[in-house]
Amino acid sequence: MEQKEDKLREVISHAKEYGYIFPSSEIYDGLAATYDYGQLGSELKNNIKSYWWKAMVQMHENIVGIDASIFMHPTTWKASGHVDAFNDPLIDNKDSKKRYRADVLIEEHIEKIRQKIDKEVEKGKKRFPDNFDEAQFRATNPNVLRNAEKITEIEDRMRTTLENNDLQGVHQLITDLEIVCPVSGTKNWTDVRQFNLMFSTELGSVAGDAATIYLRPETAQGIFVNFLNVQKSGRMKIPFGIAQIGKAFRNEIIARQFIFRMREFEQMEMQFFVRPGEEMKWYEYWKDARIKWHKALGLGESNYRFHDHIKLAHYANAAADIEFNFPMGFKELEGVHSRTDFDLKQHEQFSGKKLQYFDPELNESYVPYVVETSVGLDRMFLAVMSASLQNETLEDGSERVVLKVPAPLAPYKVAIMPLTKKDGLSEKAREIMDELKFDFLCQYDEKDSIGKRYRRQDAIGTPFSVTVDHQTLEDNTVTIRDRDTMQQDRIAISELHARIASKVDFKTLLLEKQEA
Ligand code: GAP
Repeated sequence: MEQKEDKLREVISHAKEYGYIFPSSEIYDGLAATYDYGQLGSELKNNIKSYWWKAMVQMHENIVGIDASIFMHPTTWKASGHVDAFNDPLIDNKDSKKRYRADVLIEEHIEKIRQKIDKEVEKGKKRFPDNFDEAQFRATNPNVLRNAEKITEIEDRMRTTLENNDLQGVHQLITDLEIVCPVSGTKNWTDVRQFNLMFSTELGSVAGDAATIYLRPETAQGIFVNFLNVQKSGRMKIPFGIAQIGKAFRNEIIARQFIFRMREFEQMEMQFFVRPGEEMKWYEYWKDARIKWHKALGLGESNYRFHDHIKLAHYANAAADIEFNFPMGFKELEGVHSRTDFDLKQHEQFSGKKLQYFDPELNESYVPYVVETSVGLDRMFLAVMSASLQNETLEDGSERVVLKVPAPLAPYKVAIMPLTKKDGLSEKAREIMDELKFDFLCQYDEKDSIGKRYRRQDAIGTPFSVTVDHQTLEDNTVTIRDRDTMQQDRIAISELHARIASKVDFKTLLLEKQEA
């Protein structure tokens, strides 16, 4: 636990020191759970967006992108169910005065039992190193089975109580599991209450219910209300998708763990409209496509897992999370949801407008079903940062801190360094940079020793450093150093572009995703 907290602290301080993320309005002591992306952070964030947009929109003929507004007609949220059902069950500990999400407390308890199972499996592996059959061990070991049964029992109770809005039952479950407050260590809990997560404000100068509008809690509704506009103007044929990247707002009860859970965050969502009855096929398709997209980044296959939802959102008939092994453990990174025809039907009912598609092959009109993929941009950022930040001990015993960000996502792609400022080396370095800057974000660096400059570039994750020395003036060659291998090659200036592109081009990631 300590180690995990240390890792998160390390990521937070590295992000601040090198201009990735700052606490928001820091000169006023900050605002809880709000952060600003700095000069390198906004580059990384934009690159993550590009990777997503290219994979979803550019690589699919039948997916187009939009950019809807944050404010929407208030009836949107009545129709979508968010006014009545977008709640979290909250509970307070009377001693520490800390507030928690009741379902999260229970899920954390389940996670602890799951960790016990994993430990038992690890012990088994050590006992039978040569012929260990993990599946059989999990199916037969009495300790594993007992704990697995406990998990199922808790999950069943949690699902039933939450689905029935039985808040007394949720409280009883917390009592029965003897869950204690992580701060006070006591079981002195208040009742469980529902809390709506939407932020509201007033439109114009009129106050009162009629003028209340909401900051969107998900970007998806901007897509649903534009379904017909896009379908008709783009002559889209089912199955087709609409993608969007944008801000969403939720008044989270507990917003913590850095940028993992914020009240203002960004989502990258895609709604895929399909024929009724074909949604499960597409649900499986998108689960597979999305995990491949993540794994192509090379942050470690074992850092991802699927988690089927215990309690389905009010709109879904199937839902799974792609979880990532964050410094705090495995947590939700992306959701893939089969949303049925719930949203479009609701909008039909509340707006009185038909939101149907005429299928020429079937010769009939219907309200399409929807499979949604929804990934948090800030969580992607945290996943990339935390998996990339590494401390390495080199062969000579020295240490280096290196941010091994996937090269296409790195803020700067290449640093250009004249060995000295003298003898015309600066001018030559500038000449090279002026050529490369049309295609790559370059950083010019002529301060300190070359060794120090390499360390600086390692720490901010620049995949390549190019050194211009006296030989460059004679034969137009430079040294190019690879961030990850630290290998240095002497190559012609004319080869630089191709060498850098081969690693930082998004094509490498997109191809990887296809082949994964
Ligand atoms: N349209 C479906 C939807 O919004 P969700 O599971 O509530 O589904 C999707 O959210 C994704 O948005 C999550 O997987 C997560 O990555 C991100 N997300 C949700 N709440 C967040 C928060 N408070 N801070 C940062 N990211 C959040």
